Amino acid sequence: MLTLDQLLQKLWMDYSSMNQQAGAIHRALEKRGEKVVNDHLAFRTLNLSKVGIDVLAEPFLKFGYKDASGKGYFFKEKKLFARHYEHSDSNQPKVFISELLVEEFSPTLQKTVKDMIDQVPDKLTQTEDFLISGFAWKPVSWQVYQDLLKESEYAAWVAAFGFRVNHFTVSYNALTSFKDFPDLNGFVKGAGFSLNAAGGEIKGSKDVYLEQSSTLAHPVEVQFSDRKAVIPACYYEFARRYPMPNGKLFQAFLPDSADKIFESTNFRTI
Ligand code: NI
Repeated sequence: MLTLDQLLQKLWMDYSSMNQQAGAIHRALEKRGEKVVNDHLAFRTLNLSKVGIDVLAEPFLKFGYKDASGKGYFFKEKKLFARHYEHSDSNQPKVFISELLVEEFSPTLQKTVKDMIDQVPDKLTQTEDFLISGFAWKPVSWQVYQDLLKESEYAAWVAAFGFRVNHFTVSYNALTSFKDFPDLNGFVKGAGFSLNAAGGEIKGSKDVYLEQSSTLAHPVEVQFSDRKAVIPACYYEFARRYPMPNGKLFQAFLPDSADKIFESTNFRTI
């Protein structure tokens, strides 16, 4: 059986092969003398029982992770719900899993995503490999992808990329050579990567104990049923956490900030 470190390594290998900017930024930070620690990693899924948040969380619960999100997080506009999980060893990354509230969309979208998920073998969802399985359905057509995009960029992303890490997040707190969070963002931009500017490059602030930024998702070529196309895939994120009045570092997530971070995979002309 895998250890947690082996699982995380496997997830990183899959993710960084899809998102070469992550590997490049990771290497640039190491070259600077930094040791990169992950604040969290994030998955996207749908609230269908076969593939819901609980299914993706299961392998992490086996490794001792616990739901630390209370009532969870709602994203009203994007029609998402999310939870986050923490390990008792605070050096292990948190795990953030969101799901699309499928029933809140059009019958067409509901049918499209249900048809996709019907094709996923039950067995696959019961192993850790589900977390790197990509899409286990016949590729959707370019038109279906466009129709999904119109209703939900998130649903379109899941249709094109399936189950894999959407982003890893570098912990600013574990870095030692930057004077502040904007300094790290400047370093990333200086290395040639664009940051997601929706709502400003830095989401959150010291006042809410969390600052986050992210790259714009790396474009990759995807095979649709009727054509190949280059679309945004995964992004790399950065987070700085501040101590709360009780002296403990804030460990949760901010729906307002995450709402804008989700837009890092927005379709754009590449
Ligand atoms: Ni994140």
